[in-house]
Amino acid sequence: MKIEVTEAHLLAQIDLDRLPQHIAIIMDGNGRWANKRQLPRIAGHRAGIRAVRQAVEACARLGVACLTLYAFSVENWKRPRSEVKLLMALLREYLKKEVPELNRQNIRLGVIGRVSELPPPVQLDLKMAIKSTEANTGLRLTLALNYSGRAELIDAVRAIARGAKRNGFAEINEQTISDRLYTRGMPDPDLLIRTSGEMRLSNFLLWQIAYSELWVTNTLWPDFKQSDLFQAIIDYQKRERRYGGLT
Ligand code: FPP
Repeated sequence: MKIEVTEAHLLAQIDLDRLPQHIAIIMDGNGRWANKRQLPRIAGHRAGIRAVRQAVEACARLGVACLTLYAFSVENWKRPRSEVKLLMALLREYLKKEVPELNRQNIRLGVIGRVSELPPPVQLDLKMAIKSTEANTGLRLTLALNYSGRAELIDAVRAIARGAKRNGFAEINEQTISDRLYTRGMPDPDLLIRTSGEMRLSNFLLWQIAYSELWVTNTLWPDFKQSDLFQAIIDYQKRERRYGGLT
């Protein structure tokens, strides 16, 4: 009950006409959350799914247009095989369980990253989940999987080079590069949230976050609640965005 009161109190402070259009989140601290409780790391990832639900529901409730979650980086393959296997299993479980709920909340699912390098069963589940939610018109939820900002830029440059070879020339400007990124068609993130207190970008959306507002909390990802997201938006709305100019 107390939580609900806090949530409502925070919600009332949000200006719905000035919402960030796109929120991106680096979900960090699952391992530490589990360690603190002397649980295996995967228990932290499992608890992290609860926090994913909280963030998704908060964005859908408010009417935020895009939410992008960093769920598995290219670098994460370096983790023990058992942890990677369990993370993939958790993702499949999430997709299976959550698709009806995404549809109920009118949420469209998408994915960014080198998806073709994911295990084939994961690719298949993703394809089905994406297909099943493609007509939804509410929140656009994007999972970054086997994602790396540098790999994304390499893929974009390769695509531009292929076009240049085909056509004998290539227009290169901010728009043509943005159009070759996995995020084409989406606005750049206005707000980038990172949990667990680390002050790093970890190769996430490097091009797209050029002018994003950063919000870092010490809260570990599994403890992240709707009220944390509301607080991030309140703080974001107090900031003055200048895009390098004077205001
Ligand atoms: C970082 O915590 C988190 C990840 C590498 C994976 C994020 C995955 C989830 C939240 C669960 C699955 C997600 C979906 C969308 C189904 P960490 O392990 O690096 O934590 P640590 O820094 O404390 O060790």
